[in-house]
Amino acid sequence: MKSNNIFKKFISFSLATLSVIFISNCKGESNQKTELIGLNNFETAKITQTQSLRNLAESAGMRMGTSVLINPLREDGTYREVLGREFNNLTPENAMKFGQLSTARGNYNFADADEIVAFAQNHNMQIHGHTLVWHRNLPDWFKNGQWSRQEAMKILREHIFTVVRRYRGKVTSWDVVNEAISDQGTLRDSIWLQTIGPEYIEMAFRWAHAADPKARLFYNDYNAEQLGKKSHAVYKLVQQLRQKDVPIHGVGFQMHTSIKKPPSSKAVSANIERLEKLGLEVKITEMDVKIHEDDKPRSEKLAAQAKIYQNIANVCLKAPNCNSLTTWGVADHWSWVPKFFNRTDAPLLFDEFYQPKPAYTALSETFYQNK
Ligand code: XIL
Repeated sequence: MKSNNIFKKFISFSLATLSVIFISNCKGESNQKTELIGLNNFETAKITQTQSLRNLAESAGMRMGTSVLINPLREDGTYREVLGREFNNLTPENAMKFGQLSTARGNYNFADADEIVAFAQNHNMQIHGHTLVWHRNLPDWFKNGQWSRQEAMKILREHIFTVVRRYRGKVTSWDVVNEAISDQGTLRDSIWLQTIGPEYIEMAFRWAHAADPKARLFYNDYNAEQLGKKSHAVYKLVQQLRQKDVPIHGVGFQMHTSIKKPPSSKAVSANIERLEKLGLEVKITEMDVKIHEDDKPRSEKLAAQAKIYQNIANVCLKAPNCNSLTTWGVADHWSWVPKFFNRTDAPLLFDEFYQPKPAYTALSETFYQNK
């Protein structure tokens, strides 16, 4: 139980009044799950749908999120059903990126983003906006132009105001700046750094805050979850922003990870803790766990994957400043991983038939045990 969440007490009381029905798992996966989460056969049985992941997460004082893609949202009824049932945080996977929204200067097409926001509102979900400033997915007109510092500032300011104002009161939190630190721990040599200089980061936060003073504002990055060159640089950056009174409320840990290199719970905890001392929240914003499909037994890989999801959920549950876990996609066949890394994989909680995987069960059990 998380001590910092008063609302949680009410929720767990309500949930206690619901009957938690366990049905036995006859699929022969129980040994694997027993090993995986250290429970007996009865307990490893599947929790019925009355206990969706979002309800279980909420009863443990957390939110369960996923990124969402516009195509399956429009075309796939099962996708919509699983999305609405299992998750209560939504991050538009691409629809709010600058390059997606703006085809010409001053010209915005919000159709996809609006549809995602409407779905979230209809299903009582919170929206985490992604992302206002990034070095990728930029409009061609901006990428290919020659801009003075003043012009680039004007473009960024207008972009942030246009998008944040439109979703004021609807988007609860924003990834304001995404991936501004390089793998070497220096400021990434992006078009924003080149045209505006390092101040673009604090400007972006100040403009986002002015556009929606109630929105929670995050710096988001990958490979900065544990302790190392990159996470130290992220820490230093957000520490400086705090010292300058820049309106930043938290850090997003993307958590794109893999069974070959499982994150150390201890290191992630220590990192979350030092951010708490700066008064910052942490969200797990884009979690997926690659299993590197090959001819080794799939069940072992799925068990290792489940363990990693479970460990990260536990780390977040234990930290007073970490309250949400988002996976980067609903089901394996919609994951960005196979396309981006050019090999088959299955990094998410649901398989291509929308069947819950061991990772789903492990997360359900973890939330259930922490209610
Ligand atoms: C990815 C999307 O998942 C893909 O669909 C798209 O083609 C490229 O971007 N870090 C981020 C996300 O912050 O925006 C990226 O999303 C994945 C890595």
